[in-house]
Amino acid sequence: MPIIAANFKTNHTRSSTAKYVSLVNNYLKTNSTSDVYIFPTATSLDYFETVANLHIGAQNAYATQNGSFTGEIGTEQLDEFHIKTILIGHSERRHILGETQEMIAQKFQYFKALGYRIIYCVGEPLEIKESGLDATLQYMQTQFEGIDLSYENLVVAYEPVWAIGTGVTATNDDIVNVHQALKQQCSKPLLYGGSVKLGNVESICQLEGVDGVLIGTASWVAEDFIKIIENTKEL
Ligand code: PGA
Repeated sequence: MPIIAANFKTNHTRSSTAKYVSLVNNYLKTNSTSDVYIFPTATSLDYFETVANLHIGAQNAYATQNGSFTGEIGTEQLDEFHIKTILIGHSERRHILGETQEMIAQKFQYFKALGYRIIYCVGEPLEIKESGLDATLQYMQTQFEGIDLSYENLVVAYEPVWAIGTGVTATNDDIVNVHQALKQQCSKPLLYGGSVKLGNVESICQLEGVDGVLIGTASWVAEDFIKIIENTKEL
């Protein structure tokens, strides 16, 4: 059974998130699946009572308990809602928000020390992909600097930057090649992300080395997301 994760990015409100979580949770009460993750916006985080395999996570947080970091949230705010799962290294934070590998590694160390489940994202931009597989793998090595790949609560997500939110999914060969190489380096669950949708999720989840998917755009309608879980739960 593949791991299925929904990244809301800057979508949904507090009330629509609550409805969404409730719909997914109700579905999971009567269906046996692997881990399902939902990453709402920071303002929509809450204490949701869910089945054991539904995890609500933070898309981001600052490496602090509290303090003076205007615009950020720390673990004090996450603890209020019992949140112990976080996305780190997402390409939008790297490329739009300007997080450096050094900042990302520091964040990783901080949340690792607290035992958080970390979904750690890596992936190459288009110009690197166009230089070939070796260049792509080399590029990803720089995204593993300072990251403990043996951390017990780690899930890695391979998300090529050029495939995120573009409708252009990596080919099966692209995915298998990268996943096989990453699997030699890291024994943790490995997700694929980048324009995953209802129409391609089953075939992607069946590829060698793919343990699940991290979905943005196609996860934002609860019924679609539930259908994705439904269509992959027997795999
Ligand atoms: P997408 O986003 O499914 O919209 O391509 C994936 C992600 O950013 O995690």
